[in-house]
Amino acid sequence: MAMFAGMGRIALGLLAMLAAGATHAETLPRYLIEQGGVKMEISAPRADIVRIREGQGALPEDASWAVSQTVRGATVPLDVSDTATATTLRTSALSITIDKATLAVTVADTSGRVLLADAQAAAFENKGFRLRKVMPADEHYFGLGDKTGPLDRRGESFALWNTDAYGFGTEGDPIYKSIPYVLGLNDNGQAFGLFMDNTFRSFFDFGKTERDTLDFGAEGGSIDYYVMAGPDPKAVVEDYAYLTGTAPLTPEWALGFQQSHYSYMNEGEAMGIADRLRADHIPSDAIYLDIDYQDRNRPFTVNTQAFPDMAAFVQKLKADKLHLILITDLHIADAPNQGYAPYDTGTAAGVFLKNPDGSTFVGPVWPGPAVFPDFSRPTARDWWGQQYAGFVKDGVSGFWNDMNEPAVFETPTKTMPLDVVHRIEEPGFAPRDATQAEMHNVYGLLNSRATYDGLRKLSPDQRPFVLTRASYAGGQRYAATWTGDNTSSWAHLSLSISQLTNLGLSGFAYAGDDIGGFTGDAPSPELLTRWIEVGAFNPIMRDHYAKGRDPQEVWVHGPEQEAIRRTYIDERYRLMPYIYGLAEENSRDGLPVMRATFLEFPKFAAAVNQFMLGDDLLVAPPVTWESPAAYPVPLPSAGWYDYWTGQRLDTPGTQETPRLDRLPVFVRPGAILPKQPLVQSLSDTPSGQLELHVYPGPDCHGSIYLDDGESYGYTKGQYLRQSFHCSDDGKTLTFAFDKRDGAYAPWWTGFTLVVHGWSGKATAKMDRKTMTAQSANGTLTLVLSDVVKASTLVINRAP
Ligand code: GLC
Repeated sequence: MAMFAGMGRIALGLLAMLAAGATHAETLPRYLIEQGGVKMEISAPRADIVRIREGQGALPEDASWAVSQTVRGATVPLDVSDTATATTLRTSALSITIDKATLAVTVADTSGRVLLADAQAAAFENKGFRLRKVMPADEHYFGLGDKTGPLDRRGESFALWNTDAYGFGTEGDPIYKSIPYVLGLNDNGQAFGLFMDNTFRSFFDFGKTERDTLDFGAEGGSIDYYVMAGPDPKAVVEDYAYLTGTAPLTPEWALGFQQSHYSYMNEGEAMGIADRLRADHIPSDAIYLDIDYQDRNRPFTVNTQAFPDMAAFVQKLKADKLHLILITDLHIADAPNQGYAPYDTGTAAGVFLKNPDGSTFVGPVWPGPAVFPDFSRPTARDWWGQQYAGFVKDGVSGFWNDMNEPAVFETPTKTMPLDVVHRIEEPGFAPRDATQAEMHNVYGLLNSRATYDGLRKLSPDQRPFVLTRASYAGGQRYAATWTGDNTSSWAHLSLSISQLTNLGLSGFAYAGDDIGGFTGDAPSPELLTRWIEVGAFNPIMRDHYAKGRDPQEVWVHGPEQEAIRRTYIDERYRLMPYIYGLAEENSRDGLPVMRATFLEFPKFAAAVNQFMLGDDLLVAPPVTWESPAAYPVPLPSAGWYDYWTGQRLDTPGTQETPRLDRLPVFVRPGAILPKQPLVQSLSDTPSGQLELHVYPGPDCHGSIYLDDGESYGYTKGQYLRQSFHCSDDGKTLTFAFDKRDGAYAPWWTGFTLVVHGWSGKATAKMDRKTMTAQSANGTLTLVLSDVVKASTLVINRAP
């Protein structure tokens, strides 16, 4: 074994250690080791995260599209100790042992729990590599974005290669995104994280090929991966957010109901949808135009026969309190000398991808022959961002980046040849040419980054809304996402739940699917109703469907179905203060809006299809949608409340008899849920009281977050934040308002407290002033004025 000294600071550390001749060295910021021609570097950007890099002959380039330079540059000191056969590096949370003969690595936490251990040292194969890790029998695996199949990845294997997967099956792979991040969870509820930062075509095999081996690797690039300590799943999610960033706070309207179709063909048709939404009192906030609004499918054009005046159309929608979202695909029509500005300006700026012989790469997509921006160059991204100027000026609110795997038609690979040439000009990377093989999986992320950055420049005080189909780890910093061209089937409705929960675990808090399904035959009335019910509890709620089939707007199956669907959309709008609060929380700590139940209850054996919205609501759809048979609903403990009836359950689970108008939802005992009066659009300011629904139980807490929902005022103090707590000793329920924080003025006149699970009368005092408390039907209601200062409300159960 030979240690090598590549960097001055580290070399000094090593020299000091060798000079001392000790088996215990002092601490080092990074540890370097070489064996058999393989160089390995170990560092810890944080005490609970270790980064391992390996290369043949040389260490790989220290560069990433997912992890910032600041994070990659951070190092906590490693305590090095040596035996004859192994070196151990320690942080306050981790210990990493390296076998000196083989470079096999074992990562454990300070309690001795092994997080990830090599079954074999890294193998370099062809131009890529393969890592084989021990897969304990009781470990389960999550993450990898919206990969299909069950929530738990164990026993499955996946290819990571962004693919236009029109009509993908429930086990279809690969699909649109590549997020090489995995959360492992054992039966004791202990978790770890693994992120392989590699953009080449890669794979993860969770014991499918070799039963006890977690096998992963890539066809190119370097070994660069992180192991995160947890120990609980939330800590892993936060570690991953530290590495790859969080989603910026969304404009609130994007959390409203969105209606889309491929395509509303002209202004009249689109306005008809807008007017019907309003006439039928379907709360909604956005309408999409798909590719047919364009002239010959050419991005950044408008078919003025169909949409004569986009700015005027935006104003009409605005009068209906709806935002407009436009698709803006990245394939620029290859249309020289036709006065098509995106082609002309892009060509003049030299921003399009090249073939190896230096000619521009041309491939067919929606507009026919098309050229593709080289998004890894700042010049190309800036140019792309400027393409939005006209639409932004017209008042368009959001943009949809589709086909960015990138999709190319008329080729069996569905994408570009692997030797198409990109140019990397990015801090951290040496300026160099790179092949499509390297850039493919990160192309969608860079497309949405260019869009996001462009919109930030064009309207600096508006939070952008960008929706992307393809992405890579870290893509949450630029765009929301959806799961692509799913099918109208019960199986796909179930699949949407595991896809969206895994996306949430993988950084994408803002995720949705095509509600009702995109391809296949249009959904049955029951299927669409169920899908809308579930969608009401998803982070992004968009009804979207393909061409050439029956419509699937909320009203299509008659008033009875519509009434059920409306109830659920209404409820989403009432819950908006809670949902928006979750979005704001996500922007700080990366915890998703829609959550796998184990994130809150690591040891709870949830049923298939169960998921949580935040930490308070547990949604428990039928396991078999079409069966009328009663089904068991396990709950994490006794004392949960039925969200719809407010009734408290004495048992840690219940039985449900399926009923089309009921999607079972349960509330955590100890929840305080903020709810607002129903509005038809989030552009409407609610009026009246803010309701605080109290569900007495342990660890009773809740909060409210408010701002203007669209600007960056909140970063300058224009927000409102307040927390609430309660405790209940059986005789007295004490409800504490924390002092309000921030300068944003609320819309409400006061708080209405609704305490659930209440029987009998009560007397109440707020800071010693007597209040009126009304008790009826299992709830106690108190109407209060606004409470800004820290205050305590004491509610005594009357004897
Ligand atoms: C792709 C998208 C789909 C869109 C269609 C037309 O198939 O996934 O959502 O409607 O292209 O733009």
